[in-house]
Amino acid sequence: MELHAKITSNQAIICVIGLGYVGLPHATAFAQAGFRVLGLDVNPRRVAAVNRGHSDIPDVPSELLAGLVASGALQATGDYSRLAEADIVLICVPTPFDAMKTPDLAFIVAAAEGIAPHLHRGQMVILQSTTYPGTTEEIVQPILEQGGLRAGQDFHLVFSPERIDPGNQQYSAHNTPKVVGGLTPACTELACALFSHLTPAVHAVSTPRAAEMTKLLENIFRSVNIALVNELAVLMERMNIDIWEVIAAARTKPFGFMAFTPGPGVGGHCIPVDPYYLSWKAREFDFYTKFIELAAEVNADMPEHVVRKIAAGLNLHGKALYGATVLVLGVAFKRDIDDARNSPAQRVIELLLDFGAKVEYHDPHVPSFTVGGSVLHRSMVTLHSTPLAAGLAAADAVAIITGHTSLDYRQVVEGCPVVIDAVNVTRTLADCNGQVIRLGAPLPAASV
Ligand SMILES: NC(=O)c1ccc[n+]([C@@H]2O[C@H](COP(=O)([O-])OP(=O)(O)OC[C@H]3O[C@@H](n4cnc5c(N)ncnc54)[C@H](O)[C@@H]3O)[C@@H](O)[C@H]2O)c1
Repeated sequence: MELHAKITSNQAIICVIGLGYVGLPHATAFAQAGFRVLGLDVNPRRVAAVNRGHSDIPDVPSELLAGLVASGALQATGDYSRLAEADIVLICVPTPFDAMKTPDLAFIVAAAEGIAPHLHRGQMVILQSTTYPGTTEEIVQPILEQGGLRAGQDFHLVFSPERIDPGNQQYSAHNTPKVVGGLTPACTELACALFSHLTPAVHAVSTPRAAEMTKLLENIFRSVNIALVNELAVLMERMNIDIWEVIAAARTKPFGFMAFTPGPGVGGHCIPVDPYYLSWKAREFDFYTKFIELAAEVNADMPEHVVRKIAAGLNLHGKALYGATVLVLGVAFKRDIDDARNSPAQRVIELLLDFGAKVEYHDPHVPSFTVGGSVLHRSMVTLHSTPLAAGLAAADAVAIITGHTSLDYRQVVEGCPVVIDAVNVTRTLADCNGQVIRLGAPLPAASV
């Protein structure tokens, strides 16, 4: 049977390589849509967990996964030779950068090298990992063609960026439009047919490069706009204007404005990383991406700004950072998720430790958190989440870095005399605001 017919009749066997934050939601979504799905991961613990029906990805409930595994719709493996069974292969492996912020494509290369010996005529390979324009054609295609089959003729090759937003209750793989760029119009058409089983909106672009660039544009747009409000937040503190009030006012304009909010910096696997993929590639074209560098610089300075505010808060009480106990609230890179990769809390804690502060943290989603390592050449320290009440009782200052919605911020502002709020979660506690130092807002009246 032709691949198109297999896709339209849900008979295509889909293999998802990499069962992380992106891959596992996709594997389950395709299994729910009626396809047989094989999940492939090099981490044997993850493979075993999936086969037990246990999900460590919060967007995939274990009950859902267990049902799909029990019915045979989804199975995990670490064996690349199983790719021989697959009609479609989705690559969802990490794309980090190294210490010099150079793209590290080792995971994509390893996945492509794993696929190549099992590639067969009529198969479709779709790269979903975020990467610079050109990766699909310059890196993946030559590896897949090593066995003699030609992309676009003997097998199909596509890039389709992943837009999953962990923790987002409104948008998931089921209702977020997909962008698809195939090597040939036939590749694009097949991938559109596939993704139309997941989401009602699939948007085709003319090349894999255009699809790769689409994802980078989306994330660079966020990075630059976050940097803009971060810079204005620091300015407005000096001008005695509350940026949160200004943003709330500006967003009443029904056109031509989109609200972004300031914070302690950017984190996660995407916003602090992806823009560098483009700035690195741009140099090949003798081009310097000034906005990307500037935004990164402004955002990278925010943890330092937060630490200056913590020092200022302690100072108002006649205390120094040196020797103070600081409770950091929230170390995940954004609220209500468990992902702490590249979190701004990491740099905040490292700076506090550098200043001689004693640091505790509380995060209901992240039981332990390691700081230090390569970037600032500091030794690694692993901290464990402390219970909130005990942490508050011991703290000279509290720094709210991630605004998890499950936390009781009244308990926080009532539990410690110095509270620095980097994410504006204490704004509704009008009667307590007299004590709280909020990022982007004038100092509390009591302290000026
Ligand atoms: N996490 C997000 O919110 C998000 C959103 C959009 C796009 N992305 C992009 O999606 C890609 C994957 O990110 P993620 O957050 O899912 O990563 P992740 O670290 O959560 O998961 C990656 C998985 O791939 C596995 N893996 C690594 N190398 C492998 C190989 N050679 N073969 C098989 N399995 C392998 C790992 O063991 C891991 O389970 C990245 O390019 C990322 O930039 C992530």
